[in-house]
Amino acid sequence: MQTPVPDYLKHVLSQCQRNVGGQLADYIPELAQADPNKLALALSTADGMIYSSGDDGHEFTIQSMSKPFAYALVLEQLGIEEVLQKVGVEPSGEAFNQISLDKELNIPKNPMINSGAITTHSLIQTTAGISRAEQLRRFLSELAGRELSFDEQVYTSEMKTAFRNLSIGYMLRTVGALDTDPVEIVNGYIQQCAIKVTVKDLANIARVLANGGLHPKTGECLLDRAVVRQVLSVMLSCGMYDAAGDWLTTVGIPAKSGVSGGIIGVLPGQVGIAVFSPRVDEHGNSVRGIDIFERLSADMGLHLMEGTPSAQTIIQSCYWAGKNDDVRVYELRGVLQFTESEMLLRNLQEEPPGDTTIVLDLTNLTLIHDVGARMLFEGVERLQQDGHRVVVVDSEGILSEAQMKGNKRVVVKEKLTKYLEKFQ
Ligand code: DON
Repeated sequence: MQTPVPDYLKHVLSQCQRNVGGQLADYIPELAQADPNKLALALSTADGMIYSSGDDGHEFTIQSMSKPFAYALVLEQLGIEEVLQKVGVEPSGEAFNQISLDKELNIPKNPMINSGAITTHSLIQTTAGISRAEQLRRFLSELAGRELSFDEQVYTSEMKTAFRNLSIGYMLRTVGALDTDPVEIVNGYIQQCAIKVTVKDLANIARVLANGGLHPKTGECLLDRAVVRQVLSVMLSCGMYDAAGDWLTTVGIPAKSGVSGGIIGVLPGQVGIAVFSPRVDEHGNSVRGIDIFERLSADMGLHLMEGTPSAQTIIQSCYWAGKNDDVRVYELRGVLQFTESEMLLRNLQEEPPGDTTIVLDLTNLTLIHDVGARMLFEGVERLQQDGHRVVVVDSEGILSEAQMKGNKRVVVKEKLTKYLEKFQ
């Protein structure tokens, strides 16, 4: 059998094709030359599968979809606190290219609007001889899994008419939000916007955020978890500019649009999505792109506020083992976060005080959140206080060093069956 996902994506595109609302952005002359009929969609799963449909090989410029990743890069380089001194996180409720600042703090309201993105660009740390835009191109190439390049024509075209961004640059320099040459920074920012991508690149880039910053195949940490959370939060509240409220209620996933006609969306823990269709609305957001996301969200239940109920099955099985049937084994499965940990502890509460050995087997867990690890070890300590000997079997190494801290002596790394042989 063949998975129906590609057919579904094709179907969504055909449904949205007839929507010819919106216009090509023409304040960047080169974008007005785009083929308005191009249409593409890609979906990249957290475990590394990519599906795509339509004009999925067509390259276009990343434009404002570069902003969350420039933000991620500087958060990694400087830390969240330092960046917050320079760029806020409040939705502006204004157009993306508004010449405005937070009135009290005199800094741009958020990194998704141009004033915030230009400031963010200035914060990119580089080594000698490498421009900020080049630094970002390398970073995005790493996330995309292929070498990306600049579109010189779009860059030159935008520079010719960059009066508004230059005004923003001068304004930022005047109030001290920029401390370097505003023309150089705006130039670099416009180059950043001219990095060429396909929907597949964008879905793969977005997928790194969906996957908590980890490379889906190698498990390498490309972005710190706290950085991912910060970026996704800002995308959710500010990514669609002055249409963010509409987006949040109808689609409900962190997203970022670009005036070239792309939109990326990230469903944490699940997928990175990217669409492309060049006609945009008055907010600079792709008209068909919104249509596609609304359908995907409704059909696939992507809205964040729908919440995912806990699987309610943290204990896969519970039995007695050992020669004398005096070893109590709890095999756990699923994800251990607050709800499941609470459920586990409630079950362990039923263990009467005594000197039985209690084995908690983590082999079939797929993820342990920090709160899950804390609650697990709190339970271990309380069982020990009741007189039990407690062992945590972590044969797959799911617990991080930090999560195990102070509790290593109760963790064994061998397979459950091997460990239980001791009691035969
Ligand atoms: O700075 C600009 O105006 C463009 N390079 C990017 C704007 C943009 O993509 C707005 N988003 N929808």
